[in-house]
Amino acid sequence: MKADQKRWDERFGKKEFALGKEPNPFLKKHIHLFPKGRALDIASGEGRNAVFLAQHGFEVDAVDISERGLKKARKFARGKGVKIKTFLVDLDQYQIEKKQYNLIANFYFLKRRLIPRIKKGLKKGGKVIFETYLLEHRTLGTGGPKQAKYFLKPNELLGLFKDFRILFYREGIFREGGKRKAVASLIAEKR
Ligand SMILES: C[S@@+](CC[C@H](N)C(=O)[O-])C[C@H]1O[C@@H](n2cnc3c(N)ncnc32)[C@H](O)[C@@H]1O
Repeated sequence: MKADQKRWDERFGKKEFALGKEPNPFLKKHIHLFPKGRALDIASGEGRNAVFLAQHGFEVDAVDISERGLKKARKFARGKGVKIKTFLVDLDQYQIEKKQYNLIANFYFLKRRLIPRIKKGLKKGGKVIFETYLLEHRTLGTGGPKQAKYFLKPNELLGLFKDFRILFYREGIFREGGKRKAVASLIAEKR
C-alpha cells in the first residue's frame, strides 16, 4: 500500500468528515456556469464536491486512492438520495478516459503531470474547475500539506491552462469555509 493511501485512509477513518460535508465555496458559487453532463471529481476524498455535483444533476465519477474516503462518499450520496460512481485509483497512473467529460473538478490536489490527462479527458467545450493552495499559504499557519511541491507558484495555474479559454481566475488570501487560505482558483474551457 502506498504511503499516501495509508495516510488518507487514516485521516478518513473517523465517523466525522475530515474535510466537511459542505461543497467547496468556489464550486458552489459558480455551479450555474456548468451545463449538466458527465463530471469527474479528481481526488474526491469524502465526496463533498462529488455529491454536490450529483445533487445538481451531474452524472459523477469520483476517483481517489482512499477506499475509506470513497466509502464515506457513497454513503453520503445515498443519504442525500443521489448516485455517484466511485473508482479506487492511483492518480499517478490513472488514465482518464479521453473526451468523456463535460466538467472536471480538481480541488486541493496538485499533480502537475495529470494536467495533460485532464485536458484530454474533457469534451470540446468542456470545463475544468480547479482550486488549490498557493505557496504563500505556508505563511498563514492554517493547515495544509507539508511538502512544497503541493503548492502552486504565482500564476502557475493560469500558465498550466493557457491553451484553454480562461473564464475565471483569481489568486490571493481568502476567508472561506471559516479559515484563511491562500489559493488560486480557475475555471477554463477546452476549445
Ligand atoms: C486534500 S484531499 C482533497 C479531497 C477533495 N478533493 C476535497 O476537496 O474535499 C486530497 C485527496 O487526494 C487523495 N489522493 C492522494 N494521493 C492520491 C493518488 N496518488 N491518487 C488518487 N488520490 C490521491 C487523498 O486520498 C485525498 O482524498
